[in-house]
Amino acid sequence: MPTLDAVSADITTLDVDVVVNAAKPSLLGGGGVDGAIHRAAGPELLDFCRTLGGCEAGDAKISPGFGLLAPWIVHTVGPIWRGGTNGEPDLLASCYRRSLELADGVGADSVAFPAISTGVYGYPVDAAAKVALAAVRNTDTTVGRVLFVCFSDSSRRHYDDLL
Ligand code: AR6
Repeated sequence: MPTLDAVSADITTLDVDVVVNAAKPSLLGGGGVDGAIHRAAGPELLDFCRTLGGCEAGDAKISPGFGLLAPWIVHTVGPIWRGGTNGEPDLLASCYRRSLELADGVGADSVAFPAISTGVYGYPVDAAAKVALAAVRNTDTTVGRVLFVCFSDSSRRHYDDLL
């Protein structure tokens, strides 16, 4: 069971083994955290992502970190919020589980997650934090430290309350 912490930070600046990206199915970049990661990692990331063949919601793919401090980026595609009764919680949990599986595969010790789906994809922050924590706690992993990276203090408070 990894240690779990919530931090307020720009995820692109963190010195961890894996930075998780909240990507879109094409994996070809976008706004939000995806745009920030592509800007910080540099154009080689987009070239690499073109070779990955996209990604379905709930799944994840891995790339090198290129210009990031982190040696690896896991790109996962969260569900678009459609009211919560269309499989969103299971798909969101699957993002965290699959990301940890890929992190295990490269022997990562530390993984930083953004609040997947809570921006453009509209998932309510408090509900998403509950799913994120439960999914990480219920996954068998060799990762030693998981960071939940929040971009605002209000978002971080949801994690602090749950932790
Ligand atoms: N560091 C940490 N968290 C961040 C950062 C950052 N630099 N920038 C934004 N966030 P979003 P989604 C937070 O919209 O909802 C993209 O266009 C943000 O405040 O990035 O999964 C993709 O290409 C929010 O809490 O991702 C997809 O099309 C969280 O990251 C789509 O958006 C996620 O917001 C994915 O939507």
